[in-house]
Amino acid sequence: MLTVLIPREGRPGENRVAATPESVKTLRAAGLQVWLEAGAGQAAGYGDAAYNDVGAQVLPADQLDWTRADVVLSVAPPPLPHVAQLKPGALLVGLLEPYGAVELMATLNERQLSAVAMELLPRISRAQSMDVLSSQANIAGYKAVLLAAAELNRYVPMLMTAAGTIQPARALVLGAGVAGLQAVATARRLGAVVYVSDVRPAAKEQVESLGGRFIDPPEQEERPAEAGGYAKAASEAFLAAQREQLAEQLALADMVICTAQVPGKRAPRLISEAMLDRMRSGSVVVDLAVAQGGNCACTVAGQTVERQGVRLIGADALPSSVANHASSLYARNLLALLQHLLAAGAKGAGERLEAESPQASGPSLGIDPADPILEGCLITHAGSCRRPDLLDAVPTPARP
Ligand code: NAI
Repeated sequence: MLTVLIPREGRPGENRVAATPESVKTLRAAGLQVWLEAGAGQAAGYGDAAYNDVGAQVLPADQLDWTRADVVLSVAPPPLPHVAQLKPGALLVGLLEPYGAVELMATLNERQLSAVAMELLPRISRAQSMDVLSSQANIAGYKAVLLAAAELNRYVPMLMTAAGTIQPARALVLGAGVAGLQAVATARRLGAVVYVSDVRPAAKEQVESLGGRFIDPPEQEERPAEAGGYAKAASEAFLAAQREQLAEQLALADMVICTAQVPGKRAPRLISEAMLDRMRSGSVVVDLAVAQGGNCACTVAGQTVERQGVRLIGADALPSSVANHASSLYARNLLALLQHLLAAGAKGAGERLEAESPQASGPSLGIDPADPILEGCLITHAGSCRRPDLLDAVPTPARP
């Protein structure tokens, strides 16, 4: 029987887990064995008993046998010594932070492991149910607005009171991808007037459909190119023009939610110190791109910095702060990927990963490097690094 191992996440502040009782139940029904490290779901609100009830074997860390696992599901990359124990042909799936991950890639290759970096999954319709960047970024965008609203020294909605009328707060959202659009929707629900900047033309219609007001990128410069729905890095001249354009907006804003990113690159710097100098005391900036270098000057990952009365929140772990739902969605994303591989295994597609015992009959995983879903995110397979291009990239922590 194929064995799926789910470790307890070890990184400080990481409260999510890669499988929930719901996803374990489905894996068990599909004929897989599940080993879960005791306490793995605790911080996300899923106790060991709930996993036990659906047929997982809950084991203390010292009884978890990494050498016999066929599949490991994780959120962050597991510690390298554990990865190095996995048997050749085993599959590792998670947010593997593959950009510049020289050591991890070397260990995966030496051990002849297959590894799927979920952040590299293609943004295609067939892979939507597996899209962890979307499920987690959605949470980050939502929570960023709640944080900003809680820190703000003003109301967000317009209010007509006996003591007079309060004008609605003004929000500025930088970047209108998944996190940015959810931030727009959440800020609108709270009653803010929302302005949005993005460089992709498609973003305008999406922003307007949510009731946001789109700020067209600077006209005199060419827009950054696009690839696969993602913006490519903008030139420094373009960014300078954009900063100039945003300075006025920023001076009027009560809350700013920064979500602009370019995969594998430093986040574009859209707010300089000079721009911060002009912000209203009492306003709030939440920088979701802080781990990738930040859209805003002076933000620090994991900290709230007060600068001339403006609160700068370096929000690098928001999905983890909504760990129950973040885990539930993440686990469903991984489950959808495994179900896809099980279906491929049943059809005999790709190389089959099945349980070692020759007598054992049961499901197998079909790992076909040419599968459009796996093509870009299967970073190592059968002893070869399939994405050497990532090794030169700037190392960045997982997104989101
Ligand atoms: P992301 O997190 O890489 O970037 C966030 C946003 O920042 C993007 O909209 C990007 O255009 C913007 N940005 C980059 N440089 C900027 C700058 N200088 N100024 C202002 N904004 C800037 O993007 P995310 O959220 O991962 O989404 C990327 C794309 O993928 C979007 O087009 C989204 O609609 C698409 N998508 C497609 C899916 C599918 O078809 N299955 C699923 C999810 C997203």
